[in-house]
Amino acid sequence: MASIASRSAQALRAVSRSAASKVATKPVQAASYSLLARSAVANSSRQPAFQTVRGIKTLDFAGTKEVVYERSDWPLAKLQDYFKNDTLALIGYGSQGHGQGLNARDNGVNVIVGVRKDGESWRQAIEDGWVPGETLFPIEEAINRGTIIMNLLSDAAQSQTWPTIAPLITKGKTLYFSHGFSVVYKEDTHVIPPTDVDVILVAPKGSGRTVRTLFKEGRGINSSVAVFQDVTGKAKEKAIAIGVAVGSGYMYETTFEKEVYSDLFGERGVLMGAIQGLFLAQYKVLRANGHTPSEAFNETVEEATQSLYPLIGQKGMDYMYNACSTTARRGALDWAPIFEKANAPVFEQLYQSVRNGTETRKSLEFNGRSTYRVDLAKELKEIDDQEIWRAGKVVRSLRPDYKAD
Ligand SMILES: NC(=O)c1ccc[n+]([C@@H]2O[C@H](COP(=O)([O-])OP(=O)(O)OC[C@H]3O[C@@H](n4cnc5c(N)ncnc54)[C@H](OP(=O)(O)O)[C@@H]3O)[C@@H](O)[C@H]2O)c1
Repeated sequence: MASIASRSAQALRAVSRSAASKVATKPVQAASYSLLARSAVANSSRQPAFQTVRGIKTLDFAGTKEVVYERSDWPLAKLQDYFKNDTLALIGYGSQGHGQGLNARDNGVNVIVGVRKDGESWRQAIEDGWVPGETLFPIEEAINRGTIIMNLLSDAAQSQTWPTIAPLITKGKTLYFSHGFSVVYKEDTHVIPPTDVDVILVAPKGSGRTVRTLFKEGRGINSSVAVFQDVTGKAKEKAIAIGVAVGSGYMYETTFEKEVYSDLFGERGVLMGAIQGLFLAQYKVLRANGHTPSEAFNETVEEATQSLYPLIGQKGMDYMYNACSTTARRGALDWAPIFEKANAPVFEQLYQSVRNGTETRKSLEFNGRSTYRVDLAKELKEIDDQEIWRAGKVVRSLRPDYKAD
């Protein structure tokens, strides 16, 4: 999912960064891959050959067999040995740069960061312990020093900076992305990788903040993994190894095209766009029929996020249904197909808009403006000002564990 530039995201970023800077100076408490990394670094001189701990898993996903790659196949000593002659040059230090970079560094892999000198990311990278002239460089210098170039600039910036970056991606280097966006929509982005380098993708299925927090908890995020161009014959193996280095637990194989289509579709759909639209429509109907803001909010958002949706996450939809009254179950079973039928054409329209590049062009145009941060913040402020979300603030303030924003 793409990043959400909101005040709450900035707050989260601040919290996460302060936690991250503590990690840089202080060992993490919970058992985690990062603790393992430290002991593996200490023991690495005594590690001779490496063996796969477990085989790759082929799993049956509801009748379709898919291959899943897992972190357990890459013990830390093997990971460090694999990258012993590499420098991962992480270009861009936004949400993903922060999460992936710190995880790879904690895993004992050689990582440097490349960002605009003295920009916001430069400042934040220093805060996270990257050292100018040692592990932090201007973009071009980092690319020259790196062997694996991880392009984690914003998608619009990847397109804008490509004419400067492209000539630096020389033979022998590897080009890495966390989204198929730039390469797949090349007519619009003009990002056409050189033909003599491996081009790979690891796309974590979550925000960069989650990439970091799951890693620190000793868990790993699910990621998609794909190869666009395999010059060395090792591109897939390298992609999986980098996936592990940056904090993935399980990796699902896909293509650049499928990754970008599903990602743009999902975030515009149920993950973000559709959920706001659905919440708002239900809330407005309740209000128009005389229900109070608190009642409309509780029946629309609070019960969903605090009670029912976590149950779907834990054990599936039928589990959530079974946890509710028989009255609720009967009604939901009757109305679910009606909502499906009403929404399917909208989702189909959305998918076509993603596939034909309309969504990409809109995104490039908007996010390429010099005013994009301010413009986005203005629209998000409009959401924040909607009655539903103002009512939500009061409802949340009554929670026992409430902490002011
Ligand atoms: N965030 C997510 O949830 C997520 C999840 C999976 C995959 N991805 C993918 O991961 C990649 C990175 O995403 P992100 O969300 O981490 O990025 P982001 O926060 O949108 O990227 C910001 C970075 O881009 C730099 N930047 C912006 N405009 C620039 C320009 N004109 N020249 C040079 N640098 C510029 C910023 O540097 P300054 O501070 O100097 O402006 C900053 O380092 C994208 O391909 C995205 O689709 C993101």
